[in-house]
Amino acid sequence: MTARAYDIRRGLLEDVDGILALEQSIPRAPHWNRDHYLAIFARAPGTPHIRRCLFVAVHGEQILGFAVASISRFGEPGLGEPGLTDLTQIEGELESVAVTPEMLRRGVGRRLTEATLLWCRERGVEVIELEVRAGNLAALALYRSVGFCEAGRRPGYYALPREDALTMRIDLHQERPTLPLAHRPGDSGPK
Ligand SMILES: CC(C)(COP(=O)(O)OP(=O)(O)OC[C@H]1O[C@@H](n2cnc3c(N)ncnc32)[C@H](O)[C@@H]1OP(=O)(O)O)[C@@H](O)C(=O)NCCC(=O)NCCS
Repeated sequence: MTARAYDIRRGLLEDVDGILALEQSIPRAPHWNRDHYLAIFARAPGTPHIRRCLFVAVHGEQILGFAVASISRFGEPGLGEPGLTDLTQIEGELESVAVTPEMLRRGVGRRLTEATLLWCRERGVEVIELEVRAGNLAALALYRSVGFCEAGRRPGYYALPREDALTMRIDLHQERPTLPLAHRPGDSGPK
């Protein structure tokens, strides 16, 4: 398969089985249950302030990779005193990105990540954070390559195996020439 033989598009309900099969075959990928993925397409009860996006890399009907990001909105617009800063706060988190082993190092992870960053930015997110296993060198390199910087360490955060988490963040205020500025064709998934 050549490096160009895939498309990035919004994930659809019918992609969930393929995504589950892919993430279960990748030990380092975060493992979510089906309901967690299905909740991306219908806001989960009790969490009306959270929205998620799902992007997939596809070759025909085959899922080659996927990425999930969320935005959380806290506070209500207009609660601040007149003339003071609005109390609404929007936070973004890159929650998951994984690529099938046969397509590694072909730019799939970067394009998926950039698609989630753009989705967040278009919804007013200024800062996106993530957590990653300190020993996951491929993921760390990917995140650095799109502009994330290390922000802290959480000792013993992960289990099985026990490992520190590094927290990383990107400030979308700082223009990134690599970040795509417009929607791609086929961007028709859930908003
Ligand atoms: C992390 C992961 C998504 C990267 O996907 P990928 O498609 O191979 O990444 P890309 O080809 O887009 O790489 C983009 C950049 O990241 C860096 N990078 C990615 N993998 C790397 C590796 N194994 N070693 C060093 N740098 C790496 C490089 O800078 C690369 O740019 P370059 O190829 O031009 O040098 C993939 O390794 C993966 O699925 N890992 C298992 C799941 C996982 O750990 N997910 C992260 C936690 S949610």
